[in-house]
Formats: sequence, C-alpha cells, structure tokens
Amino acid sequence: MIGIGYATGSPFGWDGRSATLETQVRDSITTGAMSMRETHMPVKVETIERRIGAIPDYVEKFNAALPGASITLDAMAQAIAAYERTMEPGVAPFDRWIDGDEGAISESAKRGFVLFDNKAGCFACHTGWRFTDDKFHDIGTSTTDIGRGRILKDDARMRYAFKTPTLRSVALRPPYMHNASRATLYEAVRHYEREPIDRPSRSPLFEPVDLSRQERLDLVAFMQTLTGVPEGEPAPKLPADWNPDGTKQSAMWGSASTESSRHVPPFLRATEGAN
Ligand code: HEC
Repeated sequence: MIGIGYATGSPFGWDGRSATLETQVRDSITTGAMSMRETHMPVKVETIERRIGAIPDYVEKFNAALPGASITLDAMAQAIAAYERTMEPGVAPFDRWIDGDEGAISESAKRGFVLFDNKAGCFACHTGWRFTDDKFHDIGTSTTDIGRGRILKDDARMRYAFKTPTLRSVALRPPYMHNASRATLYEAVRHYEREPIDRPSRSPLFEPVDLSRQERLDLVAFMQTLTGVPEGEPAPKLPADWNPDGTKQSAMWGSASTESSRHVPPFLRATEGAN
C-alpha cells in the first residue's frame, strides 16, 4: 500500500481485480475477506454499518468528513481509501544517499544498487522512485494461480501474471510474493536465479541471473535501505474501549487505542524481519 496514492491508472491487488481502492474495500467487506479471519461467517454489511454507527467517535468523524451522509458501506470505503492514499513512503536511508549523504547506506547496499540496476536486471520492472512499474508480469511464481489471466482472459501474456509490488519499506513485510512463497528477502532474490518456467506468458523482462552469495547479500542490503522513516501528522486515535459484545476490546478489530501517536501505520510497527 505504501505510496499507493501515486499509482494512477493501474488496477489494485496482486491480480488487479479492483479498478479503484474504493472497490477493493467494498469487495473485501462484502465477501467477508476482512472478517473471515476472525469469524466463521462473513459479518453482514448491515451489522458492520450498525456497529460503526453506534460508536460516537466514528459518527463525529464521519459527520465532519462527509456532512449529512450516513455511515454506509460506501462511506466507509471512501474513508478507508482516502486513508490508504495518505500512506507516504517516508524518507529512507537510500533517499539520503541519493541526496549526497555518502554515509547513509553501507558499501554492500551501494554495490546492491548497482547490481539491481545493471547485472541483475531488477530495475526493468521495479522502476521509478516507488520501485514498481505498476504492471503485471509472469515471473514464474505460480503454476496454478493464473493471476491477472483470470480477469484478462484473452491476453496470453497475462496468464500467471501478478503486479510488480513496490519495494519501498519491503524489509518490513515478509513473507514475499502474492502467495507468500518466499520467507525472506534473501529467498526472494534467489527466485530470480531460477530458470524461468517456459510458457508463452513468461515476461520477456525476466532473465535468470547468476549471483554469488555476496551479491545476494548486497541486493538484500540495498533493499533494506528502502525503509522509510514515517513523517507527517500523528495517526488519529481509534475509538477506545469499543466492545460490540459487551466485552472489553474486540479481537476482530484489535486493540489500537493504546498505540503511540506517531504516524505509523499498524503494519509498519512490526519489528524488522531477520533477512
Ligand atoms: C519481469 C519483471 C520483474 C523483474 C525483472 C524483477 N521483478 Fe521482482 N517482482 C516482480 C513481480 C511481478 C513480483 C510479484 C510476483 C508475485 O507475487 O507473484 C515481484 C516481487 C518481488 C519481491 C517481493 C516483494 C513483496 O512485497 O512481496 C521482491 C523482494 C522483488 N521482486 C525483488 C526483485 C529483485 C531483487 C529483482 C532483481 C534480481 C527483481 N525483483 C526483478 C517483477 C519483477
């Protein structure tokens, strides 16, 4: 999601199933994709609307943002999408290095950047300042899930294709790939050393690369320099002590009220993986 506000025109999701962020939110709520981790049955939309509408803090916030509108699925989708668009990558050590601070990143990371741009060919797809072309490619991560091909049935290139993810703050969100098939950044790099699966959809930009152990470590070190330092406004506090079933804090919604006031999206608060 990081920097998603800058992705214009490209559909959202690994397989691009949602034309807009709002559609993505609506679909996740209505299909139960968001609630089914916690409940056996999808929580009904009316139930969610009623619960949110029963929390005075939310009513107040919705009224301020969308005066006169009631708290419906659409209003929630609008609010969540608006929040997602504010997820700024933040300035990373890599950016400070690009700005001329030689000491901002290690020698290994500098070598990794050169590899990334040249020999390893990563920049062909992980391009631009967000390190993504926002396009879909078959890089051989699946033999069963046809990804983008489910939506674009007539485009042979799109079978097994998934969206190039941004590499901004990538070190903070293992496991990797759409199917979480790579546990660490090191393993993700190893994927690119494999002989690509020979099929018509295979991306012409994906060539297997020969890497030494040191070169893999250099690429990982480079990617670790892309973790941004959060900046800007403090995150709004979620309504405290909310309890849909009369209990203290619902597991379904987590306990967010005690988090620090820094502008750190919850997933960024995870401690860094041991890559
Ligand atoms: C042909 C385009 C292409 C090239 C070249 C490419 N990637 Fe990727 N990369 C992708 C796509 C597409 C995915 C998502 C694949 C999936 O989930 O099935 C991906 C996923 C990743 C991920 C996982 C990120 C996450 O959030 O799960 C990492 C890390 C990564 N690439 C690093 C690299 C490195 C390092 C190189 C160079 C050795 C490289 N990529 C070259 C297209 C490319």
